[in-house]
Amino acid sequence: MHARDLIGGLSHLVGEAGVIRDPDEQASYLRDWLGRYEGRTPVVVRPRTTTEVSAVMRLCHQTGTPVVPQGGNTGMSGGATPDASGAQVVLSLSRMTRIREVDTINNTLTVDAGVLLADVQRAAHEAARHFPLSLGAQGQCTIGGNLATNAGGTAVLRYGNARELTLGLEVVLPDGRVWDGLRGLRKDNAGYDLKSLFIGSEGTLGVITGAVLKLSPLAPACAVAWVGASTPASIVALLTSLQATFGQSVTAFEMMSASCLDIDAAQRDDAPMPLRDAHAYHALIELAGTPDDDLADRLRQALALATQSGTIDDAQVADDAARAAMMWRVREGISQAQVRGGKAIKHDIALPISRLAAFIDEADAAVAARFPQASVINFGHVGDGNLHYNALLPLDIPDDDFARLTTSLNLCVHDIVVQRGGTISAEHGVGQLRRDALRRYKSPVEMDLMLMIKRALDPNQLMNPGKLL
Ligand code: FAD
Ligand code: MLT
Ligand code: ZN
Repeated sequence: MHARDLIGGLSHLVGEAGVIRDPDEQASYLRDWLGRYEGRTPVVVRPRTTTEVSAVMRLCHQTGTPVVPQGGNTGMSGGATPDASGAQVVLSLSRMTRIREVDTINNTLTVDAGVLLADVQRAAHEAARHFPLSLGAQGQCTIGGNLATNAGGTAVLRYGNARELTLGLEVVLPDGRVWDGLRGLRKDNAGYDLKSLFIGSEGTLGVITGAVLKLSPLAPACAVAWVGASTPASIVALLTSLQATFGQSVTAFEMMSASCLDIDAAQRDDAPMPLRDAHAYHALIELAGTPDDDLADRLRQALALATQSGTIDDAQVADDAARAAMMWRVREGISQAQVRGGKAIKHDIALPISRLAAFIDEADAAVAARFPQASVINFGHVGDGNLHYNALLPLDIPDDDFARLTTSLNLCVHDIVVQRGGTISAEHGVGQLRRDALRRYKSPVEMDLMLMIKRALDPNQLMNPGKLL
């Protein structure tokens, strides 16, 4: 079908306000958040309902048109960016923003896929409940994108990742049929777990249009602390001892190398520093509990003991909400500071927590020996064994040099991760960034199983081609 006829057909289905033809207006849909990928599209189509998504998918199926689903476009792996062919339609869920149902007895929230994560959290709060998925991009990312990437973030330690927070799903299949799996059930063994298959499939199997999300009780008491230590092993030792003392109350446990704070400090004079002195490693800890918990005092005591025993070097518990917010701003500002501070070779790896410290020692030594021009920016969700073990290069490094270094540095870091029983993709998705790496590290049997699923659900290969597989 000619592009003009396709665009006409799509605008007939979703209305003129639902299609973006103008290249200037399309621009923000065609470039990823990190500015690494840029593509072209004949049209960005923005349906408002599941019925409209279904009609769009049917037309694309009939005309052999490839489709790239997109939520808030905050993804870190280039998964929502179309390729350069100009043939792939961008299907944006950004107008599907309905909160469909709040059920405070079943503790569930049913939403459209295009609802922003921050709005999901707000709707839960208005119902005196808590939706715990939490990440730096929550004001821009959508729940559909969170589910498509099986997002993690900073509260996985206590509540699990996006998959574990989802009870039901609604998905439009590549041929336009709708699978209504919007069940708010905590037990459902009636057949294969299709919901889990679509979660984390990065738009390659279908379009997520709605979800039933699991709500938690509000956790009114909260304590936040910042810690300085000399080694990753000390940080892991502190995690183990706090979990022994506080159990499930440990909600977040994030680690940062000194370089994460240094890049921000190098960019502005007023960069906040949670501790006065410099430390090789830092941790941000959050505990949550019931109203009568004296969590802050108990955390202060636990950290004082850890300092006395030499596990850590220094610690400060936030005295008030403003100080706690400042600590979180420092942690969540790392991604932006990194974009401004250089060109990053990004990793999103996970290992068993018991192997993290040894991995960091080996990877630091290997990167220093083989890539002296790179500085390591190492941060992440240490409580989940998930690190963004990144390497920063100067902003003005020529593209060819950057591409060459990326290939060899990725290999160096990923080989160490996999040898130590880890994964090369923990929470950001494979997208186009890690597609080749996936092939290298997955066994032929695992690749074959995934390709068989892909062929069964999307025989014409129209769903997000060039991503993941
Ligand atoms: P998009 O970027 O639009 O899409 C991501 C992928 O999902 C693409 O493959 C796309 O095709 C697919 N997709 C999107 N919507 C749908 C749908 N409805 N149906 C089917 N497929 C779909 N991620 C974490 O996991 N943890 C973090 O801590 C974290 N912190 C971040 C901090 C910052 C500052 C930024 C910019 C990003 C961060 N991210 C983090 C990455 C990103 O926010 C997540 O991957 C998020 O889940 C993507 O949601 P999105 O709506 O922006 O999806
Ligand atoms: C984070 O943990 O801050 C994110 O996953 C974003 C990033 O890796 O930059
Ligand atoms: Zn992360």
